[in-house]
Amino acid sequence: QAASIPADRVPDMEKRKLMNLLLLGAIGLPTAGMLLPYTYFFVPPGSGGGSGGIVAKDALGNDIVATEWLKTHGPGDRTLSQGLKGDPTYLVVENDRTLATYGINAVCTHLGCVVPWNKAENKFMCPCHGSQYNNQGKVVRGPAPLSLALAHADIDDGKVVFVPWVETDFRTGEAPWWA
Ligand code: FES
Repeated sequence: QAASIPADRVPDMEKRKLMNLLLLGAIGLPTAGMLLPYTYFFVPPGSGGGSGGIVAKDALGNDIVATEWLKTHGPGDRTLSQGLKGDPTYLVVENDRTLATYGINAVCTHLGCVVPWNKAENKFMCPCHGSQYNNQGKVVRGPAPLSLALAHADIDDGKVVFVPWVETDFRTGEAPWWA
């Protein structure tokens, strides 16, 4: 005879599973909440440089030197760098092989996903809910309510320096919503 579980045991096992789930949830939630302060801790606000500017960093955390960058990034290139407040920010290479004087903040204005550049479509296309931005980061399709934020991309001592953009948004002619 195969051992069969008495019917009255089953509810107990289900209950235990449920208890385990609840316990996991109780531990998991505060942990997720506690990670946030640490994340902020490791991104010191306003680090480096005067006038609120910071040197752009590449994926390895090295300072970006404009001439070096342009050797490996051709016309039309849009590649992420680390920008103001640690935000992922696209450096743009113009068709004449110079760096654009603006960087494009990659944080989607809908719910904050990092928006990838789609070269074939010549757009930034958010994988989360389908928002689209043109090649300068101007919103062309919702649900994103606003264009991607801008930062000045200056060159100082050969290095790319991001400076907060507080002037009119040249793409919309409006005041910058992020400043
Ligand atoms: Fe980008 Fe929702 S976060 S579309």
